[in-house]
Amino acid sequence: MTKEELFKTFHDIGLVPVVKIDDASKAERLAKAMIDGGIPCAEVTFRTDAAEEAIRRMTKAYPEMLVGAGTVINAKLAEKAVNAGARFIVSPGFNPETVQWCLSHNIPVVPGVATPSEIERGLSYGLDVLKFFPSEASGGVAMLKDLSGPFSQVKFMTTGGININNLPEYAKCPNVLAIGGSWMVKSDLIANDKFDEITRLCKEAVIKLQGISLAHIGINLPDAKAASEAASDFAKLGLEINEGNSSIFMNKDVELMKKMYLGTNGHIAFRCYDVDRTIYFLKNKGFTVNESTVSKDAKGNTKVAYFNEELAGFAFHLVK
Ligand code: 3PG
Repeated sequence: MTKEELFKTFHDIGLVPVVKIDDASKAERLAKAMIDGGIPCAEVTFRTDAAEEAIRRMTKAYPEMLVGAGTVINAKLAEKAVNAGARFIVSPGFNPETVQWCLSHNIPVVPGVATPSEIERGLSYGLDVLKFFPSEASGGVAMLKDLSGPFSQVKFMTTGGININNLPEYAKCPNVLAIGGSWMVKSDLIANDKFDEITRLCKEAVIKLQGISLAHIGINLPDAKAASEAASDFAKLGLEINEGNSSIFMNKDVELMKKMYLGTNGHIAFRCYDVDRTIYFLKNKGFTVNESTVSKDAKGNTKVAYFNEELAGFAFHLVK
């Protein structure tokens, strides 16, 4: 997997649990709990003596899982982690020696930054994915928004003080590549073998990350005349008529199609924070994208995509 593919996968999974494990013999069960929860990815921190062995065991048991090392505060530790099987290196701060070691060994490295000067330093090493740490204490989402101005090319893995409640604010930030944190894999849960709870917390985070909510309902009508008649009826409820080329919107809630469009009965549009990420999420649930309906913005991010499957007789699409 190239560095680009790795970062794309981080974006799609969207969550990187930060693991502190004391007993390496629990590594496989922990990895399985995260995979079952929909997060096949982990940053195993070198905050315990068990980290190295845990990385080795996780990567051996689940080679498809993206296992990297965190709290890698010097080049020696980076080497240790990579020898154990770590596929990426994360550090809390910016240590040029660690970064240089990773670059010269072609290992993706995500050093921690919390200020514009540190970001410039990262850029001078050719790094455009950086860890924003400690996120909440360094200004959180407000800081990330401000950083997107001068550093529009930089994406952040953001960690520190994030939990299920403030997760949506971060999920909405376009410059957040992935959200990290320990709340899904707290050490006491691992120590007490609460692997079902870890799976539950991962699933909860994955759902919350998508931010799926109803955008509008589309109703198929045979022609423009039928759509306009239906519009008059809906207008009796006080909904405003917004005439478009292929449909009439009633407020932003009901879309009256001027022909029999996709879906047996019509379609349902769901909003989400990041259409590409939610496509990945739904593909894992067995849905397939109707490629002919995909539209993208100038940056190449998907704006709209229908799926081939119906929900109770309705086609459905995602929209940001
Ligand atoms: C990290 O190293 O990224 C942090 O320890 C994770 O922060 P959290 O424990 O507040 O989630």
